[in-house]
Amino acid sequence: MNKLQQQTRRISKAPKLAPLIALTFLLTIPLYYPFHTHSPKNLLPLHNTNDNSPCSGDGCGGDAAGVGGVEAEQCDLFSGEWVPDPEGPYYTNESCYAIQEHQDCMKFGRPDLGFLKWRWKPDECQLALFDPRRFLELVRGKSLAFVGDSVARNHMQSLICLLAKVAYPSDVSETTDENKRYTYTEHNFNISIFWSPYLVKTGKLDNEPFDLYLDEFDPSWTTQISHYDYVIISAGHWFFRPTYFHLENRRVGCLYCPEPEITHLTPVFSYRRAFRTAFRGINGGGAARSGGGVTFLRTFAPSHFEGGGWNSGGNCTRTRPFRRNETVLEGPGLEFYTVQLEELGIAQSAGRGTGGKFRLFDATKVMLLRPDGHPSRYGHWPGANRVLYNDCVHWCLPGPIDSWNDFLQELLMRELGDAT
Ligand SMILES: *[C@@H]1O[C@H](CO)[C@@H](O)[C@H](O)[C@H]1NC(C)=O
Ligand SMILES: *[C@@H]1O[C@H](CO)[C@@H](O)[C@H](O)[C@H]1NC(C)=O
Ligand SMILES: *[C@@H]1O[C@H](CO)[C@@H](O)[C@H](O)[C@H]1NC(C)=O
Ligand SMILES: *[C@@H]1O[C@H](CO)[C@@H](O)[C@H](O)[C@H]1NC(C)=O
Repeated sequence: MNKLQQQTRRISKAPKLAPLIALTFLLTIPLYYPFHTHSPKNLLPLHNTNDNSPCSGDGCGGDAAGVGGVEAEQCDLFSGEWVPDPEGPYYTNESCYAIQEHQDCMKFGRPDLGFLKWRWKPDECQLALFDPRRFLELVRGKSLAFVGDSVARNHMQSLICLLAKVAYPSDVSETTDENKRYTYTEHNFNISIFWSPYLVKTGKLDNEPFDLYLDEFDPSWTTQISHYDYVIISAGHWFFRPTYFHLENRRVGCLYCPEPEITHLTPVFSYRRAFRTAFRGINGGGAARSGGGVTFLRTFAPSHFEGGGWNSGGNCTRTRPFRRNETVLEGPGLEFYTVQLEELGIAQSAGRGTGGKFRLFDATKVMLLRPDGHPSRYGHWPGANRVLYNDCVHWCLPGPIDSWNDFLQELLMRELGDAT
C-alpha cells in the first residue's frame, strides 16, 4: 500500500466513532440550526460595510469592474446557491496531469457528469470564474502556502489544474514526503504545501492514539511561514481520530483512548487549541511579511456519508447539489465551524498588534450543499484493494472544489484593492 492509499484510508477512517461523536454532540447542540443564523457577516465584519447602500444585482462585487472596490467589499461571497453552468468543467482528466489518482473520478468511470455543470452564485453579486492569465498576473512576484491535510492538497491540485491552460509549474520540492514546492518561473510565482493535518506539533502519525502537543508549534511550517505572502490554512477530519492531548508537556486528556483513568474529551477540545496555537505561530512567526502577509482560514468542508459511516457501507451517490433549504449544518461540522470563526476573531485581534492579516475563506456553507461532489466509489476501480472505502471526504477533480479558486481569485483581488 503506498502513502497515498494509506492516507486516504486514514482520512476515511475518521467517522469510525460516529455514534460516540453523535452522542457527545447531541448533548451540546440544537438539533436544528439553520446556518444563515450563523452568517459570518454578523460575527466577523472583515471589511467596511455600508448598510445604507446595500449591494444588490449583477453590477455588484465580484465582476471585473469591481476589483477591490468598496462595492466588492460589501458582497458576502459565501452566501448564495449553486446555479447551472452549462460551460463547465474548465479542465478534464486529459488536460491536467496533476489530478491525484483517488480524486480522478472521470478516470474511474463516474457515469454522471452533471455535477460538473454548476457554479457558485453569491446572493448579492457575481463571482467571476477563475481566469488563469489574470490570476498569474495577480500573483506575480508572490508566494502562496497551503497548510493542512489532504483536502488542502485537493485544493492545491485544483489550482494547478486550472492554471494548466497557461502554465505548469516545476516541482522544486526539497523532500520526497507530502511537503511540496512548485514554481512558475516565468510568472515568478511559487506554491508550497506544508502537510500538517493537526497544525500543531505531534508525535509520529503511525499508531493511534496519536500524541498532540496542542500548545506547541509544528516547526515544519511555522519556521517557514514568514516567507509567504499568502497562506491558506485548514484542518478537519483528522481531529476525529483517537488522540492524546498534551498541554505544557503534560497529558491532559484524550479522545477515544483505551485508558479509563485519562480524562476523555471531545474533538472540539483539540480543534480549538490547534487553531489557537497555529494562529499564534503565524502572528509570532511573522506571517506579517513586510508589505503584508495575509492568512486565509479555509473553513471546514463537511463530508457527506449517507446510509452508513465510512466503513459501514456509507456512500455519497447524489448527482446534484442541495438547495440551501434542503440541508442544515449540524453536529461536529457546526461545532468545528463555530470554533473556527471564534478563533479567527481572536487571531484578527492579535494581528492588529503584530501586523498579521487574517481573513475568512468560508468553504463550509458552500460545500455543505455539494453532496454530489465526492468520489464515493469512483476514487478507484471497482473491486480494487478493499481498504479503499467510499470517499465522501475529498472532492472529484474537476469538481465543486474548483470554485475555491474562484473565491481565491476574488479574495486576492480584494487584498490588492485594499492596498491601493
Ligand atoms: C479520462 O476520463 C475518460 C472518461 O471520461 C476515460 O475514458 C479516460 O480513460 C480518462 N483518461 C485518463 C488519462 O485518465
Ligand atoms: C520562488 O522560489 C524560488 C526558488 O526557491 C526563489 O528563488 C524565488 O525568489 C521565489 N519567488 C517568490 C516570488 O517568492
Ligand atoms: C449507497 O448506499 C445505500 C444505503 O446503504 C445503498 O442502498 C445503495 O445501494 C448504495 N449505492 C451504491 C451505488 O453503492
Ligand atoms: C426550497 O426552495 C425552493 C425555491 O425557493 C423551492 O422550490 C423548494 O420547494 C424548497 N424546498 C424545500 C424542501 O423547502
